[in-house]
Amino acid sequence: MKGSEKYIQAINNFIEEVVILKEPLQLYEPIHYIVSLGGKRVRPTLTLMTCDVLKEDYSKAIPAALALELFHNFSLIHDDIMDRAPMRRGKDTVHEKWDLNTGILSGDALLILAYQLFEKYPPNIFQEMAMLFSKTALQVCEGQQYDIDFESSDHVSLEDYLKMINYKTAVLLGAAMKMGAIVAKESDECKNNFYEFGRNLGIAFQLQDDYLDAFGNTSSFGKQIGGDILSNKKTFLYLMAEKNGNNNDINELKRLFSEAPDNHQQKIEKVISIYKSAGVIEATLEEIQKYTRKANSNLQALPISEEDKNKLFTYGQYLMGREV
Ligand code: IPE
Ligand code: IPE
Ligand code: MG
Ligand code: MG
Ligand code: MG
Repeated sequence: MKGSEKYIQAINNFIEEVVILKEPLQLYEPIHYIVSLGGKRVRPTLTLMTCDVLKEDYSKAIPAALALELFHNFSLIHDDIMDRAPMRRGKDTVHEKWDLNTGILSGDALLILAYQLFEKYPPNIFQEMAMLFSKTALQVCEGQQYDIDFESSDHVSLEDYLKMINYKTAVLLGAAMKMGAIVAKESDECKNNFYEFGRNLGIAFQLQDDYLDAFGNTSSFGKQIGGDILSNKKTFLYLMAEKNGNNNDINELKRLFSEAPDNHQQKIEKVISIYKSAGVIEATLEEIQKYTRKANSNLQALPISEEDKNKLFTYGQYLMGREV
């Protein structure tokens, strides 16, 4: 997106310095592979953009920004194992291209590489960053556990779902922005306002991800369409169909989500057609709007110029309008 290229370029340059191919190749090749496949670089962009709009030299935030991107990539390798996902960023997932053990260990190493980047900061900043990072990373694990628990649960409420996505996805976007404000040595109030903006954006972002998982297309999204359906994920789409569908559809949906399917493609098609007739598309787009609006009201509280608010606003709009 226009306006974020310079941040992505700065991150990619630093990746070339930090993520190097060396022995043992079985460990470092998958790391290099996943990180080089790119992705949108949302989290580091948020860190650098925050630092920049706070009028601090954003190059100082590059190590923290990359730490978050490496953590994100670690979580994707392990998430793809847990979600049985064959495709990521338009290519084979790490555990498909190599094997399960390679995915586990290269993921672990990526997490350590992420931590190591905080060593580039002086002790007081290091401590604040490490504390935020550890707290956030643990919340991501909790969110991921709820996500897996819900696959086999028939009693997931909207509140449960929102808590789950807050942890697995939103807090990392919040932390990404807060990191930028930490580098800029801002007040606690300012740091927390950025955190809340990022967190609400993160909820909208995960809702959009759930939506694209069913209604996107593989070539732009880069992931298998219907993956959440095959894993019986209790996404916002499922919960809305359960709430607003007719009785026949609800019973059919519950059956499809509790029995092993004879035919995977057929299961996906049936569920998508139930989603459509239950008005799930409209409900999801509305919920995405709701959290985008919340984020935009957080934006008003930020101590930055109107021009810079507009920059953050535009980036948020780009994320919510995305197909990737
Ligand atoms: C995917 O994140 C995982 C979610 C939290 C939805 P992204 O959509 O940011 O993935 P990349 O990094 O752009 O590939
Ligand atoms: C991702 O949730 C959350 C984390 C990776 C922590 P998803 O499982 O929906 O992410 P994708 O769709 O596989 O990218
Ligand atoms: Mg997944
Ligand atoms: Mg997952
Ligand atoms: Mg998803």
